Amino acid sequence: MALHFPPHLHFPLLFLITICLCMNSTFAGKALNLYPFFQVYANGTVHRYEEIKFVPPSNNPKTGVQSKDVAILPQKGVSARLYLPKISRKNQKFPLLFYIHGGGFCIQSAFSPLYDSYLHKLTAQANVLVVSINYRLAPEHPIPACYDDSWDVMNWAARWKEPWLKQHANFSRVFLAGDSAGANIANNMMIRASEESHFVLSPVGMALVDPYFGNGKPDELWTYLCPKTNGIDDPRFNPAAHPKILSKLKCSKIYVFTAGKDYLRDRAWTYYETMKKIGWKGELRIKETEGEGHVFHLFNPTSEKAKDLMNTLVHFLGCSMIRHGYYVNSESRVSEFRITVIIFINVLAFLIAYA
Ligand SMILES: *[C@@H]1O[C@H](CO)[C@@H](O)[C@H](O)[C@H]1NC(C)=O
Ligand SMILES: *[C@@H]1O[C@H](CO)[C@@H](O)[C@H](O)[C@H]1NC(C)=O
Repeated sequence: MALHFPPHLHFPLLFLITICLCMNSTFAGKALNLYPFFQVYANGTVHRYEEIKFVPPSNNPKTGVQSKDVAILPQKGVSARLYLPKISRKNQKFPLLFYIHGGGFCIQSAFSPLYDSYLHKLTAQANVLVVSINYRLAPEHPIPACYDDSWDVMNWAARWKEPWLKQHANFSRVFLAGDSAGANIANNMMIRASEESHFVLSPVGMALVDPYFGNGKPDELWTYLCPKTNGIDDPRFNPAAHPKILSKLKCSKIYVFTAGKDYLRDRAWTYYETMKKIGWKGELRIKETEGEGHVFHLFNPTSEKAKDLMNTLVHFLGCSMIRHGYYVNSESRVSEFRITVIIFINVLAFLIAYA
């Protein structure tokens, strides 16, 4: 049975319904659930599913690793945790690693138990001085805040005033590394470092562990956290779609890590394939850990596969492989060899024909 309203109520009712629909869509547009990261209530409050945990810096008597926190831009809340390996001689210099933590640009911290324990281990095993960057998190501080903060920390370090850095960092051996969103930020920092001629540090290498470059599908997290983005092919989000920018990367070596069951795996490979295709002159490698998911090495650090990943990273940061200037990757060595053979055959044919 249809409901009948007296004609004089039609307009007020329609008006009321319109108002209700409008209000509903306004609030529905604001409320958002981005599990497992956070939820935004209709009133605009952001609720993270996992609260951000902190541990203080500490010195490890077993490994000799020391750590401390430095406020870099206190008014913004930008800071870093520094890790210094065991010192065995006065003024000993170590490679300098800028590490950028992951967490979808919106969770985790350089001061969390997860990253603190991971970087204590990495410092001890790789013998590198680590600056673990604590950038501001989205959505309260929308992207590009994380990029700007990380860049500010790198410039702060480059001023060479901080006592540990001044005494113990070898500025000829600077590395960048990060996992997940941190790997995304690391790549963006390497692009900035390559583009900006006044930046005094020239990083030699970069490790991208399970980088968050999306997976080719619409990405609600990225588009929400970066309000001014033009979408998932934004050069900051999907660098492989912009080979011209990637070809500018000035470091000597890049190692991409991914995992077989990582939902972000495909774009890690696309990044690697694109770098290869454009003939980037550095040494380029990729390692996929089979049967594991996104950042498994952080959640299960004592597993054999996590140890293997750690060893590979340690080797990558190690002294033995470093050389100034560009590396030639094995692919282009093969093609150079091919060209040499072709030239040789041609010369031989020429000599035979005219001898
Ligand atoms: C916003 O909404 C949530 C969930 O309904 C509530 O827990 C919170 O107290 C509200 N915050 C403000 C500032 O009103
Ligand atoms: C710093 O690194 C460069 C490049 O690897 C190396 O040649 C130099 O000896 C290092 N300096 C110190 C003091 O270790």
